[in-house]
Amino acid sequence: MSHRTRRCIIASRTPLEPDVPTRLSWAYVDGWEDDSEIIREARARAAELGCTPVSRPSAALLRLLAASVNAQAVVEVGTGAGVSGAALLSGMTSAGVLTSIDVEAENQRVARDTFTALGYDHVHTRLIAGRALDVLPRLSDAAYDIVFVDGDKTEYPAILTQAKRLLRVGGLAIFDNILWSGRLADPGERDAETVALRDVTTTVKDDDDWLPALLTIGDGLLVASLRDRS
Ligand SMILES: C[S@@+](CC[C@H](N)C(=O)[O-])C[C@H]1O[C@@H](n2cnc3c(N)ncnc32)[C@H](O)[C@@H]1O
Repeated sequence: MSHRTRRCIIASRTPLEPDVPTRLSWAYVDGWEDDSEIIREARARAAELGCTPVSRPSAALLRLLAASVNAQAVVEVGTGAGVSGAALLSGMTSAGVLTSIDVEAENQRVARDTFTALGYDHVHTRLIAGRALDVLPRLSDAAYDIVFVDGDKTEYPAILTQAKRLLRVGGLAIFDNILWSGRLADPGERDAETVALRDVTTTVKDDDDWLPALLTIGDGLLVASLRDRS
């Protein structure tokens, strides 16, 4: 057997290994990058508020995606304590503006502390208190590079419709918690949130306007790029 053939066999076996190395890898990825002191504090305050922030690997991907599309204008649904917003801001251009929507004004007060501590003032952050589906229709068409969604899961399909209008061509719609702790993959799970999440994954797969990728990072991220169909 040639060296090259042996390498291929080893590579093709890797995904078939049992659970334990996968869990080890998962933990390794999670601990690969430390949070800054400010983000550690934001995570602690998020826990007090009862709103789970994005995982560290998801935050790193959000930062990377924001940098990759040279994001100047980002809409976020679900500000929480500001962990995902901080990740997006750190990847955006220096003139970037994050518009972040949350139904809980108290959460946004905590997020404001996080952003201020990181040096992002009101010029870079527009926090809007309200329900996503009331606020999104008021935002401009084709004006945003990223729409990141981490709020009420039952609203994801309607927010996807809004995202298509809000994004410029080449912009990204990103949905957090898309795997919903394993429920998405279990056909027996039929609760409203799981059904809504499934709906979004199916819609982006079946709609040629989207170029989607479903990622097993954190609790699952769905990333879809808006294509130029003109
Ligand atoms: C999981 S937390 C967001 C965490 C945040 N993205 C982070 O990583 O730091 C979900 C947030 O969505 C907000 N939310 C829930 N339903 C909403 C809605 N219909 N419109 C806007 N925000 C909503 C909650 O108040 C909560 O702050």
